[in-house]
This record gives sequence, C-alpha cells and structure tokens, in this order.
Amino acid sequence: MVCELRDVTYVYPGGASGRVPGGASGQVHGGASEKESQKSGAFSGKEPPESSEAASRPGHPALSGITLQVREGEWLALLGSNGSGKSTLAKHLNALLTPTQGDCTVFGMSTKDPRNIFSIRSAVSMVFQNPENQIVGTVVEEDAAFGPENQGLPSSEIELRVERALRAAGLFEKRKKPTYTLSGGEKQRLAVAGALAMDTPCLVLDEPTAMLDPQGRHELLEILRSLHEGGKTIVSITHRLEEIPYCDRAVVLVEGRIAWEGAVPSLFTQSESFRKWGLDAPPLVSLWKELRAETPLSLPEVPTLSGMTDALCRLQ
Ligand SMILES: Nc1ncnc2c1ncn2[C@@H]1O[C@H](COP(=O)(O)OP(=O)(O)OP(=O)(O)O)[C@@H](O)[C@H]1O
Ligand SMILES: [Mg+2]
Repeated sequence: MVCELRDVTYVYPGGASGRVPGGASGQVHGGASEKESQKSGAFSGKEPPESSEAASRPGHPALSGITLQVREGEWLALLGSNGSGKSTLAKHLNALLTPTQGDCTVFGMSTKDPRNIFSIRSAVSMVFQNPENQIVGTVVEEDAAFGPENQGLPSSEIELRVERALRAAGLFEKRKKPTYTLSGGEKQRLAVAGALAMDTPCLVLDEPTAMLDPQGRHELLEILRSLHEGGKTIVSITHRLEEIPYCDRAVVLVEGRIAWEGAVPSLFTQSESFRKWGLDAPPLVSLWKELRAETPLSLPEVPTLSGMTDALCRLQ
C-alpha cells in the first residue's frame, strides 16, 4: 500500500480568519513554515506557500472522515469542484499536512511522526497547484536539480536525472534560461520536471495541466501514461473528466467527503451525478453517453478521443 488514510478529518487552523496574507496558515511540521522547511533542506521536494485564495469557514473541516487507499502501481484520479478538498487531501499524501483526526500512513510510515518526513517525501513527490510558488532555482536546470540534490545523490546521477526530466517535460532546450523568463505553462512543466527528477515511486500532481495549452496537456498526459506503464503510482488531481480515461480509479470529493469511488469506466456511467458533484461533462463525454444510449455502435469503454474517433469512423 502506498498511502492509506483512515477516517481522516482536517480542519485548517483558524480557518480563513487565521490566515497570514500570502503565507501559510496550514499545519506544518516542527512549527516551521513551508518555506523555512524548504530552505533548511528538511523537504526532499519543493513546497509552495499556500496558494489558495479560497476562504474557509473557521473551524469547518476541509476534509471529513476520508478513508482511502492508494495502491501500488495504480493511477488514481482525484476529482471535485473548487474547494472540495482535493489539494488538502493531496498535501496529506506527502505529510505537508497531517490529519486533525484519523491517521495517514505512507508506505506504512505515519505522517504524524516527524522522523518519517524525509523518507515519506523521498517516496512521494508532488507537483503543486501553483507552479509560480514552486520554483526556487534562478536557472531552469538548477531548479529541476533541487529535489535530487536534497536527496543527497551524486552529481553525475543528478545531471542524468535532470536531463531526462527536462527532456520529458519539453524544457531541455531552455535548461540555461533564467526561470523568470518562462511562461506560465513552461513553469508548470518545470514543476513537473522537478518532481520527475526525484524519481520517487509515487507522484502526486495537483491540477498539473491547468496552465497548459491543449498540446501541452496532451504531452503531459502521455508522460504520465508512460510513467504509469513503467509502474509508478500516480495520483492526479483534476476537474477535467477528459483527462482521466487512462486512470485506473477515480475518487470524487464533495465538500471534503468522498462522494463516489470506483473504476474509471463506471464513473462515466454515472453522468447523471456529474452536475451534483460540480463536474462538467465535456462534449466528448456527452457524445459518448448519447451514442451509448441510442445506437448499437460499439463504443470504447471510456470516452478517449482516439477510441471515439475509431468508433465514429466505423459508422456508415
Ligand atoms: N490555507 C488555508 N487556510 C484555511 N482554509 C483553507 C486553506 N486552504 C484551503 N482552505 C479551505 O479548505 C477547503 C478545501 O480547499 P482545497 O484547496 O483543498 O480545495 P480544492 O478542491 O483543491 O479546490 P480548487 O479546485 O479550487 O483547487 C476550502 O473550503 C478552502 O477554502
Ligand atoms: Mg486545489
């Protein structure tokens, strides 16, 4: 088991009223802020300050009674509307937040035990929602090297990993560029490259495609597909249903609770609940649903673009 949450409830300390403008009010280990922890090298990954503009009601749980397992080698999609708790849940998976109630373990290690933090973050790397806050290096290749350097790897290994990660993220040509010259989408790719360079068994990505154009989105999903085929455990957060057909399993969060959990193909048969869950059915999914209901056409099990194109081309 990669991660296990047992009856986890999380309440942000102070809620909206307790927030420091532009900073973190979430629970951080050892009393250090996320940035301090990052500088001190206590983190093996890069952590942003809180990016959420959301304001929670003080004392209102961001997560309530979450029981969830992330299994080895699976690609899990975490879905939900704004404020449903996706980022809060993701931060539990690498011990950036720890449960107010309940337990969270990563490879059997409790996230509440500070002695486990380094090992947990060496096992689970994260791509956070706002790439702007995740960039710490002044030059692209330095930034991608941040995680492996914190892991204490030899420099030859770091170079190899950085090159591989930047190539995969389509940023190798820009490796000598100052990070401030990157576009928003390129910064997002750099955040992904940084996580890839850590080569952890589990990768958690919080809306990694939000700032990418359709081509960039497609390329990133292809990278994730090949990592998944290579055996990596992936948790990807999104509210775009068109991004999950290649995932194995999906979890839908509504107001901090699990509203639905199951295999991805069966999620697509639940389309009448999408609106209730705050999810939009993209045109491809709506077409798939209508054709399934009305024609004898043999349609793919999940509405992928290539599967749908094939099915429609077979139509006489
Ligand atoms: N630092 C914070 N302090 C207080 N409350 C917060 C903080 N961050 C998030 N919240 C609140 O916790 C709840 C869950 O927020 P979270 O960011 O996990 O949602 P999300 O599903 O990731 O949303 P989005 O799709 O907008 O990224 C919301 O009610 C939000 O207002
Ligand atoms: Mg979020």
